[in-house]
Amino acid sequence: MLPLVLFILLAATLLFWKWQGNHWRRLGLVAPFGWPLVGNMLDFALGRRSYGEIYQEIYTRNPGLKYVGFYRLFNEPAILVRDQELLRQILVGRNFADCADNAVYVDNQRDVLASHNPFIANGDRWRVLRADLVPLFTPSRVRQTLPHVARACQLLRDQVPLGRFEAKDLATRYTLQVVASAIFGLDAHCLGSHKRMAPPSRWLEWLAPLFQPSVWSLLETMSLLHSPRLGRLIGHRYVPLPLQHWFRDLVEARSGGDNLLQWLAESKRGLGTEELAGHATTLLLEGYETSAMLLAFALYELALNEDAQRRLHIELDEVAQRHAGNLIDPVALGELRYSEAALLEALRLHPAMQALQKRCTKSFTLPDQKPAASSALKVQLGTVLVLPVQAIHLDPAVYPAPNQFRPERFLIQPPVGCRFLGFGAGPRMCPGMRLGLLQTKAALATLLQDHCVLLADEDQCRVEVSPLTFLTASRKGIWLRFKRRTRRY
Ligand code: HEM
Repeated sequence: MLPLVLFILLAATLLFWKWQGNHWRRLGLVAPFGWPLVGNMLDFALGRRSYGEIYQEIYTRNPGLKYVGFYRLFNEPAILVRDQELLRQILVGRNFADCADNAVYVDNQRDVLASHNPFIANGDRWRVLRADLVPLFTPSRVRQTLPHVARACQLLRDQVPLGRFEAKDLATRYTLQVVASAIFGLDAHCLGSHKRMAPPSRWLEWLAPLFQPSVWSLLETMSLLHSPRLGRLIGHRYVPLPLQHWFRDLVEARSGGDNLLQWLAESKRGLGTEELAGHATTLLLEGYETSAMLLAFALYELALNEDAQRRLHIELDEVAQRHAGNLIDPVALGELRYSEAALLEALRLHPAMQALQKRCTKSFTLPDQKPAASSALKVQLGTVLVLPVQAIHLDPAVYPAPNQFRPERFLIQPPVGCRFLGFGAGPRMCPGMRLGLLQTKAALATLLQDHCVLLADEDQCRVEVSPLTFLTASRKGIWLRFKRRTRRY
């Protein structure tokens, strides 16, 4: 009797798995089979490939389709959008309201400060939180943060490393120095002065490891993107508890001068201490890591591409001549168009978020998968729509010779539409883009005005992306060296 029961149970389980893994095919969609537990993301679950690479593979394997059905971790049916017009409708156009929520799981009770982040918040709460922050990033407000950036650049100039250095480490020191000053009016002591190394900095000690790749970061990424249950099981907090306490202390310790938090407190007098701490957390966490990664990757691509670096040096020299050698000036920075294009191109090749993931909150209809066909798909409530940023950025039909670093692309054609999603697009687009570009451009100009950047080792392999993190990180660091420039243009 027992063997028969076991046989029936096994057969029922197999049939259920078969039924579950064919969800999209039953609806008439072209889709791979979804495997139990891992869906189509086995390599991601095992820490072998980043989620961006997996999505890129699905994108590349299905040319000609407007979207593809596939299965995320835990065999959850999801839709990967390929078509530019559909992307536009979802991010900017008539379907924005149907899937405006980011598909991320954060427990609002345990992660009180993180729940103030517009990236995490949904619905009306998102609208309110975003509306609080957007006025901090108008062009004139961002220009007012320049003194903070300039002070950090001065420290950076005094501390250009001699010999091999890890670019992400240097970039994180710099961006933490900027954001501590711009947000709180505090000195993070991440960069020393006058060629002395910085004293130990709690900012570095506590914040630099937060986005580092590890087995733990893989579990955190899985919890954040795929499973609240896993998050509860491992006790995941987007902002660890000691940091939550420290951020509240920082809000109390902030200077009363010209800084983002002070402007916020003055312009929104109704904000309570907890809301201010929540906004401070958002500004801080969003403010340093993505910019540091961008700066590190831009230095790396310039080290690899001599022609691009020469062109950047020519621009720095020309603009410096017009501004008495001072590049950290609002007008001079505005004239550094090639430098900005180099940053955008580095972000195209190495997007901070390899995909945007939205959740359907109001059922809507997608046109047929194939351009000429006429049947439609009703997207069910709760379905995740993946917008594969990395795959789009590396699609030869969108960017010819997509693996080559060619800043000229963004000189000829500024990043418009959904071809470039380094900062997202539409009503949820990154509000801190101007500040992110300002601080990275200023650092690039400071570091390269008097130096060339080279790979640390001639036979160095290409930098590999870590499969273990939500925000793009390199697997083994980005090792470079500086050499003093001998030639001026
Ligand atoms: C180079 C640096 C940066 C990059 C590459 C970047 C990238 C992004 C991306 C891809 C998104 C998601 C957009 C979407 O969901 O459609 C985002 C959202 C966001 N970013 Fe940035 N970011 C950068 C710098 C900053 C800075 C400096 C701040 C503020 C200090 C900031 C604040 C935010 C916020 C608050 C959101 C959530 C917006 C919302 O959901 O409404 N970012 N960023």
